[in-house]
Amino acid sequence: MKKIGLALLGLGTIGSGVMKVLNENGELIKKQEEIEIDVRKILVRDKAKKRSVEIEPSLLTDNYDDILNDDSIDIIAEFMGGEDPAFLYIRDALRKGKTVITANKEVIAKHWEELDEEARLSGAGLYFEASVAGGIPIIKPLRRSLQANRILKIMGIINGTTNYILTKMTEEGRSFEDVLAEAQKLGYAEPDPTADIEGYDARYKLSILSTLCFRNRVPVDRIYCQGIKGISADDIKYARELGYGIKLLAIAKKENNKIEARVHPTFIPLSHPLYAVRDSYNAIFIKGDMVGDLMFYGRGAGDLPTASAIVSDIITAGQNGKHYYVKFDQEEPKFEDNWLSEYYMRLVVKDQPGVLAEIAGIFGRHNVSLDTVIQKLRDKNNATIIFITHKASEKWISNAMKEINASPSVISVESLIRVEK
Ligand SMILES: NC(=O)c1ccc[n+]([C@@H]2O[C@H](COP(=O)([O-])OP(=O)(O)OC[C@H]3O[C@@H](n4cnc5c(N)ncnc54)[C@H](OP(=O)(O)O)[C@@H]3O)[C@@H](O)[C@H]2O)c1
Repeated sequence: MKKIGLALLGLGTIGSGVMKVLNENGELIKKQEEIEIDVRKILVRDKAKKRSVEIEPSLLTDNYDDILNDDSIDIIAEFMGGEDPAFLYIRDALRKGKTVITANKEVIAKHWEELDEEARLSGAGLYFEASVAGGIPIIKPLRRSLQANRILKIMGIINGTTNYILTKMTEEGRSFEDVLAEAQKLGYAEPDPTADIEGYDARYKLSILSTLCFRNRVPVDRIYCQGIKGISADDIKYARELGYGIKLLAIAKKENNKIEARVHPTFIPLSHPLYAVRDSYNAIFIKGDMVGDLMFYGRGAGDLPTASAIVSDIITAGQNGKHYYVKFDQEEPKFEDNWLSEYYMRLVVKDQPGVLAEIAGIFGRHNVSLDTVIQKLRDKNNATIIFITHKASEKWISNAMKEINASPSVISVESLIRVEK
């Protein structure tokens, strides 16, 4: 029986979840995996705070040195959140040869190389299954089960908060602001929801996933990012009429050593498997050159699902201790920012003869061909026109939109959303 000395950094939602999993299934893990996990210290900010799990008070500390300098601690599991001091604590632990398990997507996305190098030098392990899509096993399958493939494409819903908001907007016809306020009240959205609704959280996760899949570092700042703030109930209604739903998708592709990576609201057909992913659930679709299409689905957040991923990492690390280093491709990739995509757009125009022909002409001059055009009367002077284009490059669309915006016949461009068929 192997005995692991474990320290936890953080005892909030996830830390308490890890304690619950160990209390509930510790015996099962011991029997099945022949490993005994012994929590020896827990770092918190406020030792006097009431906790949702029962904790022996002598385990708590507010001084990280108590953990770093304790030789009986082999593995440190971090779920404090934020970049600092979490990054420094992880780095110092690896430097000391202690294996680290983390749920911190921001730290991994921003400091991958440095932490990987520290682990390499000291021989410690660095595991981060819970940093992407909470309880869904995705990092381990990519590392341990799909080695025989080149990964060609990743497409997923990897932020539960925005998926919850878009699901409610779709099913209840409510506005973004209204659903966000309710989600905050129910604890589904943070008091400061910026990281979720602006797409930053999904961008960190896509950076980690695409780096792993393509064996090229895909830094956060090379990923295009647009959040869901601009999505209106009207867009969702029109999408449905046209046979689509709107999801915040994270998409990355690699072809001929060119990588494109982006996070944005996207029209997807109602028949697409990702459309069926409702509420705060996550799903990741992966295309490998040998295995073909795969889809991973489950809880992308929450105390017990996330703790399930963390405890699995602790067991794996305890059993083999061997760190999996990413062998990056020698050839530097190019990053594509002029990708091809279909587009949905909604304009309000003056209701007068020739306007439709004028706008179609602008698209034509910029190589953008149209798949669908729908006109709806708004009031006696204005009309709403909806277009879905065929595949067009970002540059063609942006040039066409400049001209459309400047046209005296156009009152406003209400929305511009990419379509993924
Ligand atoms: N919540 C989820 O569903 C979820 C899912 C996947 C990944 N994650 C990731 O897991 C991490 C933690 O999330 P959470 O929801 O558990 O956060 P949380 O509830 O806010 O808990 C954070 C914990 O860390 C402690 N802490 C924070 N800063 C500290 C510092 N400077 N020194 C000592 N202790 C400190 C806090 O101590 P006190 O309790 O004393 O204040 C608290 O116990 C984040 O990186 C998050 O992105 C969360």
